[in-house]
Amino acid sequence: MDIYNVLNPSQNRVCQLLGIETPIIQGGLAYVGNGSLAAAVSEGGGFGQVGSAGRTLENFEREIIIARSKTKNPFGVNIPISAHTDFTPFFEILKRHRSDIRAVSFGGGNPAPYIKTIKDMGFITMVVISSPNQASKAERLGADIIICEGYEAGGHNGKAELTTFTLIPQVRRAVSVPVVAAGGISDEKGLIASIILGADGVQMGTRFVATTECEAHNHYKELIVNSGEDSTTVLIRDIKGPLRVYKNDYAVMVRNLEKNNADTEEILPFIKGVKNKNAAIDGDFENGYAALGQVSSLIDGIISATDVVLEIANKSKKILRPFHVGYGSLQN
Ligand SMILES: Cc1cc2nc3c(=O)[nH]c(=O)nc-3n(C[C@H](O)[C@H](O)[C@H](O)COP(=O)(O)O)c2cc1C
Repeated sequence: MDIYNVLNPSQNRVCQLLGIETPIIQGGLAYVGNGSLAAAVSEGGGFGQVGSAGRTLENFEREIIIARSKTKNPFGVNIPISAHTDFTPFFEILKRHRSDIRAVSFGGGNPAPYIKTIKDMGFITMVVISSPNQASKAERLGADIIICEGYEAGGHNGKAELTTFTLIPQVRRAVSVPVVAAGGISDEKGLIASIILGADGVQMGTRFVATTECEAHNHYKELIVNSGEDSTTVLIRDIKGPLRVYKNDYAVMVRNLEKNNADTEEILPFIKGVKNKNAAIDGDFENGYAALGQVSSLIDGIISATDVVLEIANKSKKILRPFHVGYGSLQN
């Protein structure tokens, strides 16, 4: 494979399926994955997604309408399984906006009961997984795109705790559908490394929080820009599976409860949705937590999500151009 051509939209399977220019997906972002952000990513030639976690039905639908009003380009929605109990009303919204939405991604839980429904509605179906075994299962169930997310990612991580670098090649071997790498990616080097390891594209979360269009509180965005090597920690590993967050005093307090073997019932109230909202939307980091990936230490500015995508696209093409002719089979 000519590695340069992987970024050619007419040859890239993720670009083909999603109808986009550059294989960069904005991951579902609980509370902060708003319509303006999704539209800005899609305007840059990537694939934005409106998140459903942390939103009421009305708010979810409104953000879809906002996204459509701000871009003519394709975008999608994210449905994390663990964030919902009743999927029917969300699927009704998807039905109403069938022509606006290109793809539906499932994260955080087992999407087996829902993949067929979503495919039958005509959506491209993307499934976030964190192990090669889950990837094979998702492919068998009909996933069109597999998003493999490593342990360095912000938010809920897989129990296997596989890192992105080891996950991509294993998932590439396990499935034949397109593979998108997530976790630890914020720039053109991450995109190119992912492609060389066998991915067809990337999904980024933390990078897109620190953008002008994201509805995260400015304090949260600034914490990302100022974060360093010790800025994330993992909560509730043994209770619900790892959750990677910003390491503020609040998160350290929750970790201490875990270390001291507090009861699950004592710990869980500290990580419920409203505590996430306190920090992510209201900027109150004294009384809440916010998801954050290890890649935050590489993010140095709050810029437009459109520019994030355009910059990565331009810089990666520049880097890969010298390898255009006959570079051979790096992926095989
Ligand atoms: C603030 C935040 C919220 C997230 N919420 C969701 C979500 O609701 N659904 C989901 O599937 N993934 C969610 N994720 C995971 C991202 O979609 C993405 O896969 C991940 O952030 C990639 O790793 P990175 O943070 O290193 O870029 C979230 C991540 C972050 C940082």
